[in-house]
Amino acid sequence: MGKDSNFDVSHSDRPAMSWLGRIGVLAVTVIGVVVVVSTNQWLTKRFTETTRNRAELRQALYSGNLISELQRNSIVPLLLSRDPNLINALDSDDYSQSTQRLISYVEEIGSAALILLDEGGRVVAATDRNIIGSNHKPNPYFVEAVRSNDTVFSSFRNKNGAYVFDYSRRIEASGKLVGVIVVEADLRKFEQSWAGISDAVFVTDSQSTIILATEPRWRGLIESEALEAQSAPSAISRAIRATADWTALPVDAYVLGQAVMRLENRVPFRGWRITTFTPYASVRERVNGVLAIEIMGFALLLAVAFYFASRRARARSVFFEKESAELRQLNEALQREITERKRAERNLEVAEQTLAQSSKLAALGEMSAAVSHELNQPLAAMKTYLAGAKLLLQRKRPDEALSSFQRVDDLIERMGSITRQLKSYARKGGDAFEPIDMREAFSSALSMMEPQLKRQEVLITRSIPRSRVMVMADRVRLEQVIINLLRNALDAIKNSVEPTIEIIISAGETATLTVRDNGVGIDDLDSLFEPFYTTKAPGDGVGLGLAISSGIVNDLGGRLTARNVETGGAVFEVKLPILEELTEAAE
Ligand SMILES: Nc1ncnc2c1ncn2[C@@H]1O[C@H](COP(=O)(O)OP(=O)(O)OP(=O)(O)O)[C@@H](O)[C@H]1O
Ligand SMILES: [Mg+2]
Repeated sequence: MGKDSNFDVSHSDRPAMSWLGRIGVLAVTVIGVVVVVSTNQWLTKRFTETTRNRAELRQALYSGNLISELQRNSIVPLLLSRDPNLINALDSDDYSQSTQRLISYVEEIGSAALILLDEGGRVVAATDRNIIGSNHKPNPYFVEAVRSNDTVFSSFRNKNGAYVFDYSRRIEASGKLVGVIVVEADLRKFEQSWAGISDAVFVTDSQSTIILATEPRWRGLIESEALEAQSAPSAISRAIRATADWTALPVDAYVLGQAVMRLENRVPFRGWRITTFTPYASVRERVNGVLAIEIMGFALLLAVAFYFASRRARARSVFFEKESAELRQLNEALQREITERKRAERNLEVAEQTLAQSSKLAALGEMSAAVSHELNQPLAAMKTYLAGAKLLLQRKRPDEALSSFQRVDDLIERMGSITRQLKSYARKGGDAFEPIDMREAFSSALSMMEPQLKRQEVLITRSIPRSRVMVMADRVRLEQVIINLLRNALDAIKNSVEPTIEIIISAGETATLTVRDNGVGIDDLDSLFEPFYTTKAPGDGVGLGLAISSGIVNDLGGRLTARNVETGGAVFEVKLPILEELTEAAE
């Protein structure tokens, strides 16, 4: 037999993932892509919106700042034109204190500069001491102020290219022009503060000329020129930029090569307009941040799915491996067991043979013990009779001696029959049964016991029915049983005060022979009938008497029982099936 062929476990190598798992992964991927694309669009729109709102807010703030700065500066000329100190100085042509005065004012007002001109347009006092003495007669702020009775606004580009914004007003003394006060508004500080907030911002005047800008180069240009000058990207870089800009909304303009959102608004001052450019980059960054988290989430989901799928596959293959290993082990164990069984079988055969031999030997031993046991009794009797006969011959009484010899002859006859019986006992064959009167068997046994009875002081009482008590039995063997019981009783009463043996024969449902003594009683009722159980000294008894007797009674279809009597001593009972017809017929 192929050792492993019966238990070989074969399993097909399954794919790591079932088609259901594949569909699941595909679905997760598709859902992921859809979710990412739609969130991109939605978030871009939302963030663009908020960015635009914020830019608008900022723009409103910027123009508010501009207006308030201009308004603050616009009232200063009116106040200073009424300053008695300045008027006095112009009147008296004494400007020694004037510059100092203007410097002290400018700090409080927060203007860029204060300039005092005399009626001829010459600078007589200024916060910038360098220009004192210069003539500003052709300057718009002087020309316009002289012409007007009100505060006038003028702006022009200075020699640095920066725009200057001035409020000027004529100063009069007793209805006559004595000078002009000029206040230069500081708007350039806004350019700097705007530039700090990353957006590109510019302000145009009513002619659309850029007058304030976070990019200094834009000043004096119109918007289109400014943007042109600023960024002239090549067609290729424009294309690259277009693909890179993954935005959902159209781009307003490109500033410094960046896609930007353009916002324009009116400044409520002389037709000025403010324009801001906000880069989309911040929107992109925020959207990309969210998208990255989303993509990561989906990737994680897929990774987890793959992990579990691979783990299940691994677990399954481990399970199969374990199972086949177990089966292999089982197979080996089975093989071992079979070998063991075969060996045990062989051992058993040997043991059986040995047992048969030893039981034969045991039977042989038992047999020889039984032979000697049964022959001892007649031999002892023969010895007594021969001694008696010898004595009688010496006393010349041959007739009496002859009867003794006759008895010895009877005993020899009996021994012959005993050996025959033992032979049949060994064969366990029941034969030679005949109807026997129990009373006769008893008296025959008793006569055989005569020599011992004479030697021992004992009272024997008997209660025997007058009529026959018939049983089917083998005479010699039945007598053997009775002799054994009597011998045991004699042994038991050896040391009794009034040694008595009572024999009762009765015929009821069974034929019963009872032997009762007042001896020591039975020690161990359980082992009583076992072969070789004896309490006697070696030589006195071998423990076969009761074993043989109960065997004989059983063969005759009866029962041998024993019990102790409360008053002391033992009772043995032989019960045999009674031959009622013959018993009754006799009566
Ligand atoms: N009448 C009795 N009273 C008390 N004990 C008894 C009596 N009969 C038998 N026994 C007990 O039973 C034992 C077994 O008796 P059994 O006749 O089988 O053997 P045995 O008398 O010892 O030897 P033997 O083989 O010579 O008869 C005895 O040794 C004794 O202890
Ligand atoms: Mg005995």
